[in-house]
Amino acid sequence: HKQLTIGLFGFGVVGEGLYKVLQQTPSLKASIKKVCIKNPEKKRNAPDSLFTTDKDVLLNDPEINVIVEVINESENAFHIVSTALKNGKDVVSASKKMIAEHLPELLELQKQTDRSFLCEAAACASIPVIRNLEEYYDNDLLHSIKAIVNGSTNFILTKMFEENLSFRDALILAQQLGFAESDPTLDVEGYDAVNKWAFLLTHAYGIIEHPDNIVFNGIQNVQAGDANVAREKHYDIKLVAQAKKLQNGKVAAFVLPQFIKHDDHLAFVKNEYNGVVIESGFADKQFFYGKGAGSFPTASAVLSDLSALRYQYKYEYKKLYHHTPQELTNDFYVRV
Ligand code: HSE
Repeated sequence: HKQLTIGLFGFGVVGEGLYKVLQQTPSLKASIKKVCIKNPEKKRNAPDSLFTTDKDVLLNDPEINVIVEVINESENAFHIVSTALKNGKDVVSASKKMIAEHLPELLELQKQTDRSFLCEAAACASIPVIRNLEEYYDNDLLHSIKAIVNGSTNFILTKMFEENLSFRDALILAQQLGFAESDPTLDVEGYDAVNKWAFLLTHAYGIIEHPDNIVFNGIQNVQAGDANVAREKHYDIKLVAQAKKLQNGKVAAFVLPQFIKHDDHLAFVKNEYNGVVIESGFADKQFFYGKGAGSFPTASAVLSDLSALRYQYKYEYKKLYHHTPQELTNDFYVRV
């Protein structure tokens, strides 16, 4: 197996989680050589010699063969990822916003450099949703996907409607537990969910759509009155990302808060958990469930990518590159 020498960007909730997880998984033969951080003043639970603020120290080190990038500024992240790929390194990233906004360039870079760019941690954390959508379903057979892809909003809704916490207290708790983005508006107003949905649509259906063009809303307008209606009628309120193959073969996709029946699989998804319900030919209905945010569940997904890199795994983007010409016409995707 290939020995992995990692240059890590970011030592927040996910970065530190990965550092701890790797200490407990020596069999993976992966070690972090250097960590690039923004703020050297912050106290960290790791030796000082591990850290630098100079990104070139990592990007230009020939011994480092994998860059793991888990920072939250998307333009910076894109610069790091593209330089790393050009410098011949494989890349693992968890930057949802960066991936959603730069997908066409990332695809081009992967082709040019022939390196792997993996991002299982970028959507639904511990649920292996990207590999699943990428590999399991033939495009024609994937009828629909209905998912909860943001842990923080699901946590907030659960705490508000089942434990009577105020929105504010629930949000603070989500932040304290490391589920929310540094700017929690991204979670609350649905940006994080739609970013994830944008690139999951690529793996699911070969659609490349900028998140700005996908209809979405967050939970910012969910009111106490909505909760009363839900309770009366035995519904839950969930922020649901949905994609559906229409009868004409096109795909419609959106992210919106919805009333969910109590017997729906997604009603089972509470707190920071995520869930994905897929309907496909022959398999009928499948339900995937797991923690969608938090330090170790997200680190677990990064770990799975590192493990996959040891056998040179790459996303094939088979829905994108192996479409029939008709499927690739502009109106393959329906703007709702
Ligand atoms: N803020 C994100 C969420 C973290 O709550 O789902 C995981 O991507």
